[in-house]
Amino acid sequence: MTPAPRKLLIDTDTASDDAVALIMALRSPAVSVEAITIVAGNVPLRQGVSNALYTVELCHAKVPVYAGAEVPLHRPLEVADWFHGKDGLGDHGYRPAHPVEQKIDAIEAIVATARANPGLEIVTLGPLTNLALALEREPSLPELVSRCVVMGGAPCCEGNVTPAAEFNLWVDPEAARRVFLSKLKLELVGWQLSRFDAVLSENDIAEIAALNTALGNFSLECNSTAKAAYFTQTGEHGISLPDPIAMALLLQPELSLEATDHYTQIEARSELTRGMSLVDRLNVSGDERNAAMWAETRENAVPTKIHWAMDVPGWKQLLIESLR
Ligand code: BDR
Ligand code: CA
Repeated sequence: MTPAPRKLLIDTDTASDDAVALIMALRSPAVSVEAITIVAGNVPLRQGVSNALYTVELCHAKVPVYAGAEVPLHRPLEVADWFHGKDGLGDHGYRPAHPVEQKIDAIEAIVATARANPGLEIVTLGPLTNLALALEREPSLPELVSRCVVMGGAPCCEGNVTPAAEFNLWVDPEAARRVFLSKLKLELVGWQLSRFDAVLSENDIAEIAALNTALGNFSLECNSTAKAAYFTQTGEHGISLPDPIAMALLLQPELSLEATDHYTQIEARSELTRGMSLVDRLNVSGDERNAAMWAETRENAVPTKIHWAMDVPGWKQLLIESLR
């Protein structure tokens, strides 16, 4: 017997790789997407809402899209148009045919969806502002959510915005800090997992193009600006897809080949290391000489599952299946 689809909520700052992740979830028989909540990040909030609505329409899906936080908790918004294009989707003029406004906001939607679906899974593909605000509104959220996969951070390696930090955690480090200081059962999918052999090569791109489907063509076209920007940034050719990789690990947990649990902190005070994801890989916080420094985390949070390695052919196969 096929198991019932798991209930999922997606929080996203919908740009080009987010859109591909949405397609994967909306096409997957493993999950039922109950709500898509939008946060400002890669693009301003309204643009993110429009991009999500367009993607939902392209999938012929009927999932409500809710607008959330317009700015980070304590800082002005810094977008990533240099990477994803001004509209976040490579500036090809995509617009939803039926922009439907929801009456409640994303924060209320997260709380209501979790209350209505105990055991809900959440995946976050943008800054953690909405989730931090939802935790404030409903402190028992960690008891209602069985799993929260976070695309963000660069544990134990370099970031993509500063040497220390990855974009999603860097944009709103105060929100990220709050979320990592909660008892949510977090899983971290760092930026480094989307690099090197996980990048879509020219062969992978040709395979997707050969499908000649609306979803495949859109996924390649909307990532045109991101592909060029990724080469400029890293010198690596191809399309790097951090959010779809987080989605793949959510949909098929067996794609994770190495994961370990660690107390994790997010730096929010220093400008130099703003948004850095500090993973206590050697459990130094268990050492009494460091105990005071990590006391807040050990008292308030639970360890985060950090994904270190994944089945790369398996991830690409899942992606291609979703676009068929
Ligand atoms: C993250 O930032 C954005 O550019 C992507 O959508 C992804 O969520 C990668 O650092
Ligand atoms: Ca994103």
